[in-house]
Amino acid sequence: MKPKFYHPLQRFLHWLMALLIPALFGLGLWMTGLDYYSQWYKSAPDLHKSLGVLLAIMLVLRWFALFWFGKPAGQGARLQQKLAALVHGLLYGLLTLILLTGYLISTEDGRPISVFAWFELPAAGKLFENQADLAGAAHYWLAWTLIGLVVLHIAGAIKHHSIDKDDTLNRMTGRQRPSIKSGD
Ligand code: HEM
Repeated sequence: MKPKFYHPLQRFLHWLMALLIPALFGLGLWMTGLDYYSQWYKSAPDLHKSLGVLLAIMLVLRWFALFWFGKPAGQGARLQQKLAALVHGLLYGLLTLILLTGYLISTEDGRPISVFAWFELPAAGKLFENQADLAGAAHYWLAWTLIGLVVLHIAGAIKHHSIDKDDTLNRMTGRQRPSIKSGD
């Protein structure tokens, strides 16, 4: 049987990632414009990489949680449910590719990624020609695509909540409220 709500671990990871992703996007855009003499020139990319590795760990945990706990049944018209499933799949897929391309950019030179000096993620080194440049371009455009889809995703969540008045958003916040539609 499908659960009524997303599991607390799924909800926790969803909202933590919903904060972290725009922060990483903003940080990424800002740090690429820094000049060599800025005091953030080295620390901003270090922070971006450390947070990116933490995001990758959260993503893997989230896949396991999805596999383990499942998800509540979709609400709304069939086509709308299909569109939501497609957007969710794309969000997961884009995130995976963004994290992979980020890894390829920063490990081309063979240096591991130090995550807040807690631990190191080993480098795979140079795997193909122009690795950092190609992965960098992909990383940039995939990130913009992700942000576009996130906007669509948020609009969908707001529509469910405010127009359809169903429980889609409550299942992700864990807030139990009587269905406004059925009036019970
Ligand atoms: C960077 C930001 C975000 C990302 C990457 C993201 C990603 C996702 C993904 C992948 C799912 C599918 C979960 C699953 O089935 O495993 C999901 C579900 C959901 N998200 Fe987000 N989300 C973000 C921000 C938000 C925000 C800001 C809201 C609210 C305004 C929101 C509302 C929801 C809701 C209501 C669901 C459940 C949808 C359903 O069960 O049909 N999300 N999100």
